[in-house]
Amino acid sequence: MATEKIILDCDPGHDDAVAILLAVGDPRIDLLGVTTIGGNQSLDKVTYNARAMLELAGATDIPVHAGCVRPLVRKLQTAAYIHGETGLDGVDLPEPSRPLDDGHAVSWIIDTIMNNEPQTITVVPTGPLTNIALAARLEPCIVHRVKQVVLMGGAYNTGNSSPCTEFNIQCDPEAAHIVFNEDWPLTMIGLDLTHQALCTHEYQQMIADANPRLAPALNGLMDYFRLSYQDEEAFLDPPTHDPCAVAYVIDPSLITTRKCKIDVELSGALTTGMTVADLRAQAANDCTSQVAVKLDVDGFWKLIASAVSNLH
Ligand code: BDR
Ligand code: CA
Repeated sequence: MATEKIILDCDPGHDDAVAILLAVGDPRIDLLGVTTIGGNQSLDKVTYNARAMLELAGATDIPVHAGCVRPLVRKLQTAAYIHGETGLDGVDLPEPSRPLDDGHAVSWIIDTIMNNEPQTITVVPTGPLTNIALAARLEPCIVHRVKQVVLMGGAYNTGNSSPCTEFNIQCDPEAAHIVFNEDWPLTMIGLDLTHQALCTHEYQQMIADANPRLAPALNGLMDYFRLSYQDEEAFLDPPTHDPCAVAYVIDPSLITTRKCKIDVELSGALTTGMTVADLRAQAANDCTSQVAVKLDVDGFWKLIASAVSNLH
């Protein structure tokens, strides 16, 4: 079976945690390593969470490298109001047995891309884009050496952290500006798509039933995530953003996309951090980026259930 090599750059986070399980459990993904970025919680907390999730998944062979503690320019803003004080409230996780790996995430990302065959690695960021922007500035060759960047972030319609900004991009708009303005093949899996990935009670039951060992953790994660979204964002069920990016790498047929240029607003009075997608028909020529538009919802949750069932 052909596998896709990925680097998952994340800030776990309840939905990042599901992205980790999907990446470990699906046989079509070769997870080269997990890198972390301060976002949903402080760098220390999200790095611990990434290691604990890999322990839970039985994937202690996967390295974890810690990245930047804060955005390029701005102060760190966390999303404790969604993910709690630990970043993964609501779930008891095992103590990580593998020590944190040596080396900064940015150096490890560069070395891994440069030491692998060109166009074989997909970078999957599901947090603020600080590590990825720094990697691109430190070693510009990575831009043409990666296969693609598939990121969760942004929105071409409504935002979440403000009326027109999505959390990951709003946290570090300068980093996002760098990432969106490089000419690597880039897919933006934004809120327009991830708000379709609602974890209803039925889908939660389906993924929990897929693996009785992981059921308590999955239910703990999703119950907490649901309550946060009910209290903070008036959702009935939580949009499970980050695994959508991994799902697109595994099976692009699950997600309809549309080619367009995307830029990031840096100086708006009300719009700083907004991803501005040029959806005019004439603007789609010659661009290397696209936005995600429509999700095969049932196919997405079946993919997650199947991956979770492989985690022994
Ligand atoms: C994004 O923000 C974070 O809170 C989630 O983990 C996801 O990556 C959604 O806006
Ligand atoms: Ca995230």
